[in-house]
Amino acid sequence: MNVRATLGLRRALSARAGLRALWGGLGLFIGLMAVIWVGLPLLPEETGLRFGMGYQAFFTAMLLLGVLFFWFLGRQSIPYPRGSAGVLASLAAVYVLTIGALVGVGVAYPQFPRPEPPVVASEDAVERGKDLFWNSNVGCFLCHTIEGTGGTRAPDLTHVASRAGQRVSGLTADQYLLEKVSAGATYRFRVPEYAPIMPPFEKMITKEQIRDLVAFLLTRQ
Ligand code: HEC
Repeated sequence: MNVRATLGLRRALSARAGLRALWGGLGLFIGLMAVIWVGLPLLPEETGLRFGMGYQAFFTAMLLLGVLFFWFLGRQSIPYPRGSAGVLASLAAVYVLTIGALVGVGVAYPQFPRPEPPVVASEDAVERGKDLFWNSNVGCFLCHTIEGTGGTRAPDLTHVASRAGQRVSGLTADQYLLEKVSAGATYRFRVPEYAPIMPPFEKMITKEQIRDLVAFLLTRQ
């Protein structure tokens, strides 16, 4: 074999290896993108982990930066900082950028719902909640009964405060009532043997009104 043929063969071989590496890299990239955009949203709610859009965009950006980094490395054109101060400065910059971005995303897209402030059952709030309960535009009493007055399609709420604290483990009575009244039948806990007909009131009345209703319900020991 003459020299030129050997060179040609070697070049073809290395081109093929390069192509294989490219395909491998592409496969890895697509796999990681699938984990970020398809896998993360499938995480069950019980794990308490929620990676919303912000995290997905952040992870994707990190992946692209990683790709860019290796591309730059391949070109060997990154000027290495001279002196230890330069090295420290670039380390600090990378640290602040990544940790800062992660903390920023974490604050903007909290993984755990922020706990609601506890409901203070002040006299005024209880009075407003009582009015709302018996208001026909809100309609709680059309389904629920209190002290013998109201509908029968839903549980009697006369003594709801005495059981509300035991409904969902880890939730106090006011936390449970806030979440239940907000989400209605779509809530993760439903009183068994009743139809899933309670409306999600977070879409119909204000948060303040829900808090007033809960203040009233908390007096129903
Ligand atoms: C269309 C009927 C309907 C209306 C209107 C309605 N609910 Fe309900 N509610 C239900 C039913 C049925 C259940 C039991 C099934 C379930 O848990 O979803 C329930 C359950 C509840 C519970 C849980 C009780 C327990 O023992 O844990 C609370 C608290 C509650 N409702 C409060 C309210 C309040 C406050 C309103 C008004 C803002 C309201 N509901 C309006 C039908 C209704």
